[in-house]
Amino acid sequence: MFGYNGFIMDSRPVSPQAQPADSLDAALRIKRLNELHGQNHVRNNLEILIEAARQRGESLDHILLYGPPGLGKTTVAHIVANEMDVNLKITAGPAIERAGDLAAILTNLRRGDILFIDEIHRLGRAVEEILYPAMEDFALDIVIGKGPAARNIRLKLPHFTVIGATTRLALLTAPLRARFGAVLRFDFYDVESIEGIVRRAAALTNTPATAEGVAEIARRARGTPRVALRLFRRVRDYAQVRAQGEITARVAADALELLEIDEMGLDGLDRTVLEAVILKFGGGPVGLETIAASVSEEPDTIMDVVEPYLLQLGFLERTPRGRVATPRAYQHLGIPLPVSTPREPLQPQLFDADEEI
Ligand SMILES: Nc1ncnc2c1ncn2[C@@H]1O[C@H](COP(=O)(O)OP(=O)(O)O)[C@@H](O)[C@H]1O
Ligand SMILES: [Mg+2]
Repeated sequence: MFGYNGFIMDSRPVSPQAQPADSLDAALRIKRLNELHGQNHVRNNLEILIEAARQRGESLDHILLYGPPGLGKTTVAHIVANEMDVNLKITAGPAIERAGDLAAILTNLRRGDILFIDEIHRLGRAVEEILYPAMEDFALDIVIGKGPAARNIRLKLPHFTVIGATTRLALLTAPLRARFGAVLRFDFYDVESIEGIVRRAAALTNTPATAEGVAEIARRARGTPRVALRLFRRVRDYAQVRAQGEITARVAADALELLEIDEMGLDGLDRTVLEAVILKFGGGPVGLETIAASVSEEPDTIMDVVEPYLLQLGFLERTPRGRVATPRAYQHLGIPLPVSTPREPLQPQLFDADEEI
C-alpha cells in the first residue's frame, strides 16, 4: 500500500547500504554502556532508563540525543539496542521523504525494536504528523480510498522506541520534542576521557604510544572522540612512515603540525573563520550567514562543527546582533587588539570555566 524507498537498514546483518566496513572503525567501536568514558550525565540517565524498562519488561521510553557531531550519539543508539538486546533500525530525517515511507518503516517494527532517526530535525511536516500518534499511542492513522469514499482507519503498532539524534535541538518542533521521555545532551569530553579513548585505540591496534604522545593527540582533539580517532590514525601513519612506529610527544606534535592542527586543536577552517570575523568584520558582531559566505562554507558546517568549539574555548561569543571575537581569539591568532575596544572586557569567570579544556 505504501511506497517504500528502502532508506532503512537493520543493524545486523549489515546491509549493503551500511557505511563501507572499515575494520579499524569496527574494532574501535564501543558496545557497552560501561565502555562509554566521560559523558557521565548521559550514561547515568541511560543506566536508569534501561534498568527500569528491563525490570518491568517494558519497551524503553523514547529518547532524544542532542549535541555537536562526533560525540557519540549514533554510538549510544547502538549501545542501547545492545544493552536491551533488541533490534535497531536506522534511518535519518532527510531519508524519509513521504509519510508513506515512515508508515512502511513503522509497520515493519516488532515489539521492543528501536527506531533510530538521525538528523531528526530534518523530518518533513507530513512525516512528523505520522510520528506523533505512533510515538504517543503506538497507532498509525491512515486514509483509505479517495474522495467521498475515503475512510480513516487506525492501525495498532507494537510498542517500540524512537531514539532521535540531532545537532540542533532548537530546530525540533515543540510537539515532537514533547514526545520524548528523556532528552539527553552530549557535551564535549574532558581531556582525560579523550586520552582514555586514544589509549584504547592504540592498545587495540597494537600501536606503541607514550603517555605524552597520547596526551598530545588528546589535547588537540577538541573534546570530540571522532576527531581524536581521526587524529590518532593520522599520527599512527606518520609514526609508521616517518618515525619508528611509536607515538611519542614529538612524533604526535610533528604529525599534527603537518595537518595544520594547532595547540588548541583549531584546524584551518576554524582559524579562517576567526580571522574572517576579526579582519573582515572588525571583530563582529557579524551574522553567521555572512561569515559562512565570506569563507565559502556552508552555514550548517560553521554552526555544527566550527562554532560550538570556538564558543567552548571562549574565542567566540554569541550576541543578539551576531558573533563576536573575544580578546582571547585575537591573542591566539597573534592579532593585536584594536586600541579602542567598544566592548566591556569579558567576565573573568568565563576564562576560568574554559581552563578545563
Ligand atoms: N565515548 C566514546 N568512546 C570511544 N569512542 C567513541 C565514543 N563516542 C564516540 N566514539 C567514536 O567516535 C566516532 C563518532 O561517534 P558517533 O557516535 O558517530 O558520533 P555522533 O553520532 O554524535 O556524530 C565513532 O567512531 C565512535 O566509535
Ligand atoms: Mg551520528
